[in-house]
Amino acid sequence: MWKLKRTQTCGELRAEHAGKSVVLNGWVDARRNFGNLIFIDLRDRYGRTQVLFSPDRAAALVEQASKLGKEWVVAVRGVVRKRDADTVNAKIPTGEIEVDAVDLEIVNEAKTTPFEVTERINVAEEMRLQHRYLDLRRPTMQRNILTRSKIVHAMREHMDAQGFLDIETPYMVKFTPGGARNFLCPSRLYPGRFFALAESPQIFKQLFMVSGLDKYYQIARCFRDEDLRADRQLEFTQLDIEMSFVQREDVMNVIEGCVVHVWKKVGGVEVPRPFPVITYEESERLYGTDKPDLRFGMKIWDLTDAAPREFKVFGSVIEAGGVVRGLTATGCASWSRKQTDELETYVKGIGAKGLVTLKVEQPQAPPGSLGVLSADCVLAGSAAKFFAPPQAKAIIERAGAKPGDLLLLVADAEEKAASVLGGLRLLLRDKLGLVKPGTFQFCWVVDFPMFEVGEDGSVGAKHHPFTSPKDEFLDVLEKEPMKVKAKAYDLVLNGVELGGGSIRIHRRDVQQRIFKLLGLTEEYTRDRFGFLLDAFEYGAPPHGGIALGLDRVAMLLLGLDNIRDVITFPKTQSTVCLMTGAPGTVTEKQLKELHVRVVDG
Ligand code: AMO
Repeated sequence: MWKLKRTQTCGELRAEHAGKSVVLNGWVDARRNFGNLIFIDLRDRYGRTQVLFSPDRAAALVEQASKLGKEWVVAVRGVVRKRDADTVNAKIPTGEIEVDAVDLEIVNEAKTTPFEVTERINVAEEMRLQHRYLDLRRPTMQRNILTRSKIVHAMREHMDAQGFLDIETPYMVKFTPGGARNFLCPSRLYPGRFFALAESPQIFKQLFMVSGLDKYYQIARCFRDEDLRADRQLEFTQLDIEMSFVQREDVMNVIEGCVVHVWKKVGGVEVPRPFPVITYEESERLYGTDKPDLRFGMKIWDLTDAAPREFKVFGSVIEAGGVVRGLTATGCASWSRKQTDELETYVKGIGAKGLVTLKVEQPQAPPGSLGVLSADCVLAGSAAKFFAPPQAKAIIERAGAKPGDLLLLVADAEEKAASVLGGLRLLLRDKLGLVKPGTFQFCWVVDFPMFEVGEDGSVGAKHHPFTSPKDEFLDVLEKEPMKVKAKAYDLVLNGVELGGGSIRIHRRDVQQRIFKLLGLTEEYTRDRFGFLLDAFEYGAPPHGGIALGLDRVAMLLLGLDNIRDVITFPKTQSTVCLMTGAPGTVTEKQLKELHVRVVDG
């Protein structure tokens, strides 16, 4: 047992404490020797305090302090002293004082750490994750985790104030199809049977509504066996919500209120309400994505009807029912060939056939002269010769271009052209620095299609199979499923999907029709979803809800682009925990108990 228990934290002492006798506990952040004077910075999660060991107190004390290494855990008793004006450190809150040590207790020594526990580290993320407990000592990481904690607190505070009930749902559930790939847990007592780890509380929160537990929320962990990206983890956390007798706007209102409260309380940022609402169709057309970054303009324009068809690149695509669309890179006509080639390489990397670049230049000759295509602009570039004056006029108008701009065109099938230009738009955002850091632009995307065709050609639900089709499509569900729009909505922030939800189906017959359209047989539906369909027959109220990705909320509020930086012990992109080595092997005996055999391949 160590003896000197702290009376204050390392972030607490100020000039007004001068003369006070205190005890601090913490980690040695730095040690500086000045002749026979020794200074250490003592650190804990509250801050840093300078401690002075002086021979005026006792030579033995200085001798003991001279042994201290970085990250040793120590306890110091001493007297708070105001620093001389010229030694005040204005950068830290305790910078006006130091503690003149009287007693030192070495609580625990530390080996040399694999990387320095400091802000300015320059090591690979793998190393940080391997020793995450050290990485988490760093002030930046502590700030991230603290902020996350504050966000959760603010969310609970808001939801509670709005009369929502905090209710848990099971994590170990029965496998149901239609969502992300599940993790499975073999049952010991029932050979060959498995629990699935819940990919979300979806079905259970809907059943709460059937139970009359209106206004549910939960900070819920979800498990999805999917490929990881910078904003995805295998297990992540949602602020999950469900409400009864509501329409889309009611749910949107609740979430807007919550988000605005969190941003104000935790980030000190006023976010204006209401958030803009944009339809899925508009978002895809103008921004090439269903999660538009509205912090900057640069809308995609369409030239299909006015594009020169003699230019084969355009002609063949239009002939095949495709589109010609483009972006205007303002002021980039001076870009070198190398720079525009880089853009082309990028778009080819995301599936484009090529990129047509046109520069808008000031005419050398006066307006009206031979060869000058429009009053004050000419097009330059290998495709320029295909643009007759009316076409040149059209492109300049639609592109909102002026001399000095660079026009970037893609001809392809509509979906491909949209996604390529959507990607290029974000690349230009970063290259041109179009976004001011610290800007938050929320928006709602609504009117999603009900169904989508997967890579294997199968029809799946765009959101999930419990999403209600919009009323006007109920009669034509089976006739034209791909045209059906859903009562679904996504909350998007700065081009990242922050949350998604919908008004649900609450009638058995409609739910059964959707399952059928998704290719599920009656028997399979009965086996997997029988309990839900039954529940809908015992008085299910109309209901709807939403889930926000908490990790993403923390990441974006902190202005970060890596979700791992707001998660204490995350998995790497290759889905392993570098610290513990998970996933790990288990013994034959354990496998046998679970009735599981591992086969190669
Ligand atoms: P959805 O699947 O859209 O909806 O998820 C809601 C939000 O959760 C976050 N999210 C993730 N965050 C980190 N890693 C992941 N792998 C991951 N997957 C999703 C996103 C996303 O917007 N039950 C429905 C919600 C509802 O309809 O009420 C659902 O889970 O921020």
